[in-house]
Amino acid sequence: MMKVFAVNGSFRKEGNTDIIIDRLLEGATSRGAEVEKVYVDDLKINSCQGCLECRREGICKQEDDLMEIVRKLEDADAVVVGSPIYGNYMTGQLKILLDRLMGVISKITYVPGGGIKSITRLKTKKRNVVSILTAGAPTPECADDALKLLRRMLGSLTNAGFMEEIVAVGINAKGAIAFSKEEWIQAAKKYGVQDPETYAEKAVIRNREVLDRAFELGRKLVDR
Ligand SMILES: Cc1cc2nc3c(=O)[nH]c(=O)nc-3n(C[C@H](O)[C@H](O)[C@H](O)COP(=O)(O)O)c2cc1C
Repeated sequence: MMKVFAVNGSFRKEGNTDIIIDRLLEGATSRGAEVEKVYVDDLKINSCQGCLECRREGICKQEDDLMEIVRKLEDADAVVVGSPIYGNYMTGQLKILLDRLMGVISKITYVPGGGIKSITRLKTKKRNVVSILTAGAPTPECADDALKLLRRMLGSLTNAGFMEEIVAVGINAKGAIAFSKEEWIQAAKKYGVQDPETYAEKAVIRNREVLDRAFELGRKLVDR
C-alpha cells in the first residue's frame, strides 16, 4: 500500500493549510493510500546547533523527534509539506525542522567542473512531492522564497517522481479556505472591503479551485 506522509508547519489545527492538506490526503485515500499527518508544532524539534556532524554520517546527535521524522520520510512513497507564509517565508518551526533535516536526509556530492549536487541519503525510491503554501496576500509572489528552499530540499527525494505546488492566496481568517459565500461576505464587511458580494463570489470560486486541485493532486500522488 502506498504511504503518504504529510507535515504541517502551521500552528493552527483546522486552519487553511490543514484543510488543504486534508483535502489532498482525502484524494490519496480515495486511491487506497495509507496517510499520516504530523504538525511540526506537536513535535520536539530543537534548533540546529551548527556542529555539521550530520554532513559526514547523516546522523544528528540531538535527542528529540528528528530521527522519527527521518524514518517516516524514508518509509513514505509520497511526501506533502505545508506551511502558511509568515513574513514572506515559511513558519519558523518548519524552517527549524528543515535546517535539522538538511544534512541528515541529503548529502552534497561534488561534480566534475566544480559544481555540487545534493542527493538523498534516504532509501532511493520514487517519491512524489507536493508543497502547499497559504497566504493572506492577494498574489502568490510572497511564497517565492519559501518555494525556492522547498524545491531544493524536497527535490532530492523525488527520484523522477513529480514535484507540484499549491499556493493559496487571499486567506487570513482560520478556515477561510473553506468559507461559504455568506461567511466571506461577513468577513469582507468586517474588513471594510468595497463590494463584499463580488469579493465573496471570487473568493469562493478561487478557494474551491484550490481544494479541487488538492484532491486531484492527492490522487495523482498515488497513481503511478
Ligand atoms: C505571524 C504571521 C505572519 C504572517 N505573514 C504573512 C506574510 O508575510 N504574507 C502573507 O501573505 N500572509 C502572512 N500571514 C497570513 C497567513 O499566511 C495566513 O493567514 C494563512 O492562511 C494562515 O494559514 P493557517 O491557517 O494554516 O495557519 C501571516 C500570519 C501570521 C500569523
